[in-house]
Amino acid sequence: MAYGYSTDPELDRSTNRVMTLGAVLLLAMAAAFPLYLAYEPSAREDARAEQLSSLAHEGESIWAFNCASCHGDDGEGGSAPALNAKQFLQSATDEQIQLLIAVGVPGSAMGAYSQDFGGPLTSEQIKAISTFLRSLEDEAPDFPNWRNP
Ligand code: HEC
Repeated sequence: MAYGYSTDPELDRSTNRVMTLGAVLLLAMAAAFPLYLAYEPSAREDARAEQLSSLAHEGESIWAFNCASCHGDDGEGGSAPALNAKQFLQSATDEQIQLLIAVGVPGSAMGAYSQDFGGPLTSEQIKAISTFLRSLEDEAPDFPNWRNP
């Protein structure tokens, strides 16, 4: 077969079919794009919420193992301050809570938990605990005397 324009009608039809299909697909993608734009931010929001909730879950089991004996199973306090209290959670930032857990309170029963200070926990685990504590804030009880439960 020589090079040049095809005069084969079957090949013409098949080329036209492929081009039509391509055009239809392109239009479909163009039509779907606004849907994607509308959906994407909420998907990202959901992913973030899911990530926080799984971190809080991890923090809860680290809490049970390391902190509950003094601060209570649900942070309600015991021999140590209640950390589920509204008064505590509203006054402390995540960074302050993480720092406190990391370095402890010298001269008290509250030890340093960061591996950087001879404790057992990584900074990721400490972050998980503070995420767990933060997750209690929505239903935190009003407890003005939280430091001495
Ligand atoms: C052996 C008992 C004990 C254990 C275990 C313990 N704590 Fe404490 N914690 C204390 C005491 C006592 C204080 C109060 C220290 C003070 O201010 O005199 C305290 C204070 C704190 C505070 C500061 C509250 C404030 O006054 O602002 C945080 C936050 C805290 N603990 C978190 C934790 C976490 C998280 C864990 C587990 C990783 C933990 N603690 C394990 C006894 C304990």
